[in-house]
Amino acid sequence: MFYMNRPICCNGAKSVASWALCWLNHEGRHEEFLTEDEKKEYSRLNASGRKREWLAARIALKRILMEANYIESPIHCHIRKDRFGRPKITLGEEDDFRIMNCSISHKRGIAAVCISWFPEIKVGIDVETLSEKPFRLRSAFVGKGDSLTIIPQSKEYYAVLWACKEAASKAMGLGMLTDFRKLCVVGDGDRRFSVSENRQERTKGYYLFFGDFIVAIAHRHPTIPGDTRAN
Ligand SMILES: CC(C)(COP(=O)(O)OP(=O)(O)OC[C@H]1O[C@@H](n2cnc3c(N)ncnc32)[C@H](O)[C@@H]1OP(=O)(O)O)[C@@H](O)C(=O)NCCC(=O)NCCS
Repeated sequence: MFYMNRPICCNGAKSVASWALCWLNHEGRHEEFLTEDEKKEYSRLNASGRKREWLAARIALKRILMEANYIESPIHCHIRKDRFGRPKITLGEEDDFRIMNCSISHKRGIAAVCISWFPEIKVGIDVETLSEKPFRLRSAFVGKGDSLTIIPQSKEYYAVLWACKEAASKAMGLGMLTDFRKLCVVGDGDRRFSVSENRQERTKGYYLFFGDFIVAIAHRHPTIPGDTRAN
């Protein structure tokens, strides 16, 4: 198993969330990470690639929580989805529980996950490969105000822009209902970006390159957030 986890800091030093990447070289011996409900969901998946990605995401979320001392063991939390498909973590039991915001993405066997440490801060993560698809589909998701400091109009430009918008849309939680053209992404030369919806800038984030992958991480605040640095 490959696993790495990093904090996301905002306003200088304060960690607002953590994100992680996880890759499993086989499916076996990981089911001890799952609760009974999660095992049932897992057993409903058919494709082995999808099963490994799904499992890698759950293991990564649970490892972050264990490393941060939120839970003693992986079965002390459940990952469930709301009616829009947004995942949420429940810690504790029915009469004494706490919900935490999280986000999941996977691509070609790798899972990228993110957990917010604050109930008011929503998070979104997306992992993409550098493909031609975003370039081909650019008219469906690029808006007038979008601007990144990457070679304009290149394959990389559209792949990064897509990842930033996917991460922002997951932080918003509406999934396919989001009109990507209405999310305005502006990036700086340091791989940070901010996202405006209806001229309100409540989402900030950061993207990075990890081998052949692009990872974009977004965090959405009830008010305008400060400076972001994800490591
Ligand atoms: C539903 C959506 C989140 C799926 O994204 P995706 O790129 O197919 O897949 P990813 O691997 O990045 O993300 C999948 C994860 O998103 C999460 N997710 C699903 N719906 C979500 C929602 N409404 N809000 C936040 N997260 C959501 C789930 O946890 C899922 O993982 P899981 O099935 O293991 O639990 C959605 O953003 C989507 O399909 N977007 C594509 C829209 C598009 O094509 N836009 C461009 C126009 S050309």
